[in-house]
Amino acid sequence: MTNTVTADFIHVFEPGEDSARPPLLLLHGTGGDERDLLPLGRAVAPGASLLSPRGKVLEGAAPRFFRRLAEGVFDEADLTARTHELADFVEEARERHGLPAPIALGFSNGANIAASLLLLRPEVLAGAALLRAMPPFREPPSPDLSGKPILLLSGLMDPIMPAAASNVLADGLVALGAEVEHRALPAGHGLIQADIGLLQAWLAQR
Ligand code: MLT
Repeated sequence: MTNTVTADFIHVFEPGEDSARPPLLLLHGTGGDERDLLPLGRAVAPGASLLSPRGKVLEGAAPRFFRRLAEGVFDEADLTARTHELADFVEEARERHGLPAPIALGFSNGANIAASLLLLRPEVLAGAALLRAMPPFREPPSPDLSGKPILLLSGLMDPIMPAAASNVLADGLVALGAEVEHRALPAGHGLIQADIGLLQAWLAQR
């Protein structure tokens, strides 16, 4: 495992032992960091390479991947710029480590920037697992996402990402041609055991 500070993102890259498995791009939630999702990544995709950057935006002391104006209200100009910056980082990391396109595994704020990556730079990702995500843009772009596998796991009692918002995101991704599996779980914003099982099963098919 290498923990590197470069001109781009503070991140961890953990090389995988199973080259048949696509690498995972781990994207933490608000207040997390590059170490947060490593245990989850190892558990749901054993042997996969893990690339885990830390969001560069600070809200107080809490790292995030882009600025927000209020809870659920995003600074879309910042989100756009940060999405391209993250996409460039992923492309550089792929070149450096000789990796195929990764599957994003994002939670909350990390899931929202993963959704933004799908909309703005879809070629960077082989797919995405979005845990507790909402539509990142009020007027989203319309890339062709034909065949892109996306798992969306939402919580029916999630006070931060209401179920209706997850439905809007799922419908929007389906309309762009993505292969979306959307499960609304009896959960809040936090993950439950069912998330892990569904994630593991979905990743095993990739
Ligand atoms: C966001 O800002 O991306 C969402 O509100 C989730 C969060 O980080 O609380």
